[in-house]
Amino acid sequence: MSESDIAAARELVANVDRIVILTGAGVSAESGVPTFRGEGGLWKSYRPEELATPQAFAADPRLVWEWYDMRRSAIALCEPNAGHEAIARACVEHASCHLVTQNVDGLHHLALGRRAPSASPDQYPITLHGSLYRIRCSCCAFARDDRDPVDSTSVQTLPRCPECDALLRPGVVWFGEALDPDVLAHAFEVAAAADVCIVAGTSALVHPAASIPLATLDSGGIVIEVNPDETPLSRHARYSLRGASGEILPIILP
Ligand code: OAD
Repeated sequence: MSESDIAAARELVANVDRIVILTGAGVSAESGVPTFRGEGGLWKSYRPEELATPQAFAADPRLVWEWYDMRRSAIALCEPNAGHEAIARACVEHASCHLVTQNVDGLHHLALGRRAPSASPDQYPITLHGSLYRIRCSCCAFARDDRDPVDSTSVQTLPRCPECDALLRPGVVWFGEALDPDVLAHAFEVAAAADVCIVAGTSALVHPAASIPLATLDSGGIVIEVNPDETPLSRHARYSLRGASGEILPIILP
């Protein structure tokens, strides 16, 4: 990790008006939440097509709920780390700092809510892939926040929609599903308006999320990457800061 690059990135970030931060699973790694790819990643041990697609849910909703319930209860014990805290501080203290996250673990929300209990919706993250702690109907538009354990003993014990009685499902975006177009448009809008896009803890392999920093570049802004490893975005970054987000973000964020 180059100390001079970190110092230069910090200086750059301190002198711009509009910042967007794009995060991925790596930002929560130091909180004990497994990432998806790489060493120890979830997709090394599990097959996404059996657990994270609408087809998987239609074929075996009990298995899908068992896996999501396991993740919900494990992640409920995790705490935000110094990276989440630094991002929350920047978003609360700077009106022109926005967070866009691919993460479904709720840790950004937790850090922000604790720091600023009366934060405005604008200060909360733009969540591209939904939330593990949201639950929605597999048929109608019903959705609610939900942190209760799910009884996945059998299909009969799974939660059902209070409006149409269809099975409720995790409120996350699965492979093959489109992102909410309003949420996505908002993310691209703040990225295009930003002077700097800080990309932290993402392999930058999943689109459209991975294209968001390009909107900053296309409008003349600068990309800074924070990741121990190289990614497809690295070649676009003015600074590639190789290290843990929990160590680097508290230094470079205003
Ligand atoms: P990945 O698991 O693909 O990538 C995690 C990245 O975090 C890797 O590039 C690691 O090098 C990096 N990393 C690991 N530890 C880190 C640390 N302490 N600090 C900073 N970076 C670290 O996760 P995502 O890019 O978020 O989709 O994956 C994108 C999407 O693919 C996820 O949102 C999920 C998944 O399938 C859905 O759920 C729809």
